[in-house]
Amino acid sequence: MARTPRGERPAAQSPGSVGPTGRPWPDLPQPAARQSSATEAVVLALCNQKGGVGKTTSTINLGACLVEAGRRVLLVDLDPQGSLSVGLGVNPHTREVSVYNLLMSSGAPAEEAIVATSTAGLDVLPANIDLSAAEVQLVSEVAREHTLARVLAPLKAVYDIILIDCAPSLGLLTINALTAADGVIIPLECEFFALRGVAMLTDTIAKVHDRLNPKLELVGILGTMYDGRTLHNREVLERVVEAFGDVVFHTTIRRTVKFPETTVAGEPITNYASDSAGAQQYRMLAREVLQRCPAA
Ligand SMILES: Nc1ncnc2c1ncn2[C@@H]1O[C@H](COP(=O)(O)OP(=O)(O)OP(=O)(O)O)[C@@H](O)[C@H]1O
Ligand SMILES: [Mg+2]
Repeated sequence: MARTPRGERPAAQSPGSVGPTGRPWPDLPQPAARQSSATEAVVLALCNQKGGVGKTTSTINLGACLVEAGRRVLLVDLDPQGSLSVGLGVNPHTREVSVYNLLMSSGAPAEEAIVATSTAGLDVLPANIDLSAAEVQLVSEVAREHTLARVLAPLKAVYDIILIDCAPSLGLLTINALTAADGVIIPLECEFFALRGVAMLTDTIAKVHDRLNPKLELVGILGTMYDGRTLHNREVLERVVEAFGDVVFHTTIRRTVKFPETTVAGEPITNYASDSAGAQQYRMLAREVLQRCPAA
């Protein structure tokens, strides 16, 4: 396949050409409107206990691209760091009601916690440092793993897709996300240690599937921070595809300083740099996700 002068594969892929994962690029048509028979949101958790792999960046930008595809989207911040909220221009520390309150008191109204972002159709349920206490406080709850599922249940009628941004841990909050979800997306940074810990994560997903949530599926593994100019990155991606096969998304997200910049700007890349390669890659990811989750 033709490469650009800098050795990168061009952003635009045509069906049948070799994609960045070394497999033929699939046909990914413009997504159709959601089936009119669908009444409940599809819930997807973005999960990897390794830190800094692109969970939050992917939640924000996949969410914005799903809005572009006509979906009503809620992003749930399940990380006490609150990065998802901050990345969407919401200061979670000044919020009186956050996801923590919804988890800890069954009567708390979700509408008071949810914030509309500057992207119409994209809402966020913020988190702040209060949430770190939930990990401990939930331990003594009855059916503690189902707490988030109970919070999200009434919201499933209001949205088409709910994305949960997990913290870098496999603690009780992440188990709650997996119990509430229909599917998991695992962002993996394309570097040497990427595969370390993934076995533990897939093992946890399998256990949650068997014991708590039989509908849970691994929707896909997403290569992030990919730099096709380095042999190292290409080799890592090859190994990921060898290990996981077709569950790996064809789309990979390339490394670019635009993503840290969007966090500072507090908006998705589709607003900040709508024509950039990064925005285009997340649009392709949204198409793949909608293809793999027909109910969404
Ligand atoms: N494709 C990319 N290219 C360059 N930088 C990126 C890319 N994706 C994310 N980043 C940057 O890498 C850092 C970590 O990304 P992000 O916060 O999305 O990861 P995370 O997995 O949510 O981290 P944590 O585990 O701490 O929650 C951020 O500064 C982000 O802006
Ligand atoms: Mg994060």
